Amino acid sequence: MSYLPIQQLLKTAPINTQVTVKGWVRTKRESKNAVFIALNDGSTINTIQAVAEAGQLPEETLKLITTGACVAFTGQLVPSQGSGQAVELKIEDVTIYGPADPEKYPLQPKRHSLEFLRELAHLRPRTNTFSAILRVRHALAFAVHQYFNDNGFYYLNTPIITASDAEGAGEMFRVTTLDAVKPPLTEDGKVDYSQDFFGKETNLTVSGQLEGELGALALGKIYTFGPTFRAENSNTTRHLAEFWMIEPEMAFFELEDNMRLAEDFVKTVIRYALQHCADDLAFLDNRLKEEEKTKKKEEQSEMGLLDKLHFVISNEFVKLTYTDAIDILVNSKPAKKKQFQYEVSWGVDLQSEHERYLVEKHFKKPVILTNYPREIKAFYMKQDADGKTVRAMDVLFPGIGEIIGGSQREDDMDKLVARMHEVGIEPETLWWYLDTRRFGSAPHAGFGLGFERLVLFVTGMGNIRDVIPFPRAPKTAEF
Ligand code: 4AD
Ligand code: MG
Repeated sequence: MSYLPIQQLLKTAPINTQVTVKGWVRTKRESKNAVFIALNDGSTINTIQAVAEAGQLPEETLKLITTGACVAFTGQLVPSQGSGQAVELKIEDVTIYGPADPEKYPLQPKRHSLEFLRELAHLRPRTNTFSAILRVRHALAFAVHQYFNDNGFYYLNTPIITASDAEGAGEMFRVTTLDAVKPPLTEDGKVDYSQDFFGKETNLTVSGQLEGELGALALGKIYTFGPTFRAENSNTTRHLAEFWMIEPEMAFFELEDNMRLAEDFVKTVIRYALQHCADDLAFLDNRLKEEEKTKKKEEQSEMGLLDKLHFVISNEFVKLTYTDAIDILVNSKPAKKKQFQYEVSWGVDLQSEHERYLVEKHFKKPVILTNYPREIKAFYMKQDADGKTVRAMDVLFPGIGEIIGGSQREDDMDKLVARMHEVGIEPETLWWYLDTRRFGSAPHAGFGLGFERLVLFVTGMGNIRDVIPFPRAPKTAEF
């Protein structure tokens, strides 16, 4: 039986023809003369209304058409009598694929809390909110590939299993086939990884950047888009243990070029979502408005979701140095009134409360902070002439904080090796990385965008665990 996705059916609306729809029942409403069923198949936020006359369907069939059941309806598509939809399907034939016992099916046609739905990650894509998020997520991923393809970048697949710690932060998940209870030991009692699968200690990657640099210094402009793993034990609304990162890396780009690219890139993909996900974003905009109403007046955000997205794509990001940002923060009201949880002075790593003050209170715009102290940044960043700062850039977004982290890379072999010694990385372990500086080194730069943080921003959701189908976080790996 051929059938049309509901999204196409509603768009083309072939009135007075016989059509078949297949999907999951959202609601069933019975009146004296008729029964109305709202059916959704995930192709769109919208449902199609299917109508049967009272008494038309056998009682046992009607009983199986309950919220969550999977069914097919065949019938004429006609202009709808009721308000709320332009067309409806007059049921002539019903197939029940899979009933859903209403006593046991956990999703009911009412508002469930996001916490409750997190426990039901296997079923939550059937709700309006999560199906909308997943469609927006898809559109953003597509826009990412389109952007880079249109701009002469090559998609480079960097390894997921790696023997190096790209960020040097030691937050890695080990990959091993050694016996967990009785691993082979070396003479001095340490685990003998030379007997492990790869003959050395390996982990899941925290970033594809180091291999990305190899690609850029051969292909010119590359990007990665893949899963990334961090074993940081941070139970926040912005951290996942498994997330997707997009890392472009460009030969001959300096910090300013990198900033320009990052701004154009995020604006372009957000614009794509606005153009291609109008229904879903309108739904999410409305959802957020309802949620805001439950908050105290002073905590309500001034802008709706769509306003915020339009605002970001139509305003230039503020660019300033870390040093200037510290000046602003030190002289800010919350600093003077000791309202920041973490004290701020030159040299400290900015906490999300500081980033959000700059973006949400002070500038009220996305901000690109540059030239951070070298001590708080990774070893590969290019050192500034003052010897104190590096050519780093973080893009900070309202409600999110850091959405992008990047830098110009140190292309001077001697400085790079000296820095590795300072932070305790054995240069020999990264001999292949250093070979790019040894042979045909070039100025280059790149950045990493946390894909879920982008999806968080575009959907207006408050918790990163709600914008990835199956979140991985401390003590969370059920599905
Ligand atoms: O700032 P980060 O650590 O930078 C890097 O990994 C560089 N190698 C990127 C590069 O220059 N190629 O991470 C980049 C971004 C962050 O700005 C944030 O958006 C996201 O990755 N991110 C996370 N997202 C979700 N959960 C986590 N635990 C994240 N850690 C970083
Ligand atoms: Mg960072």
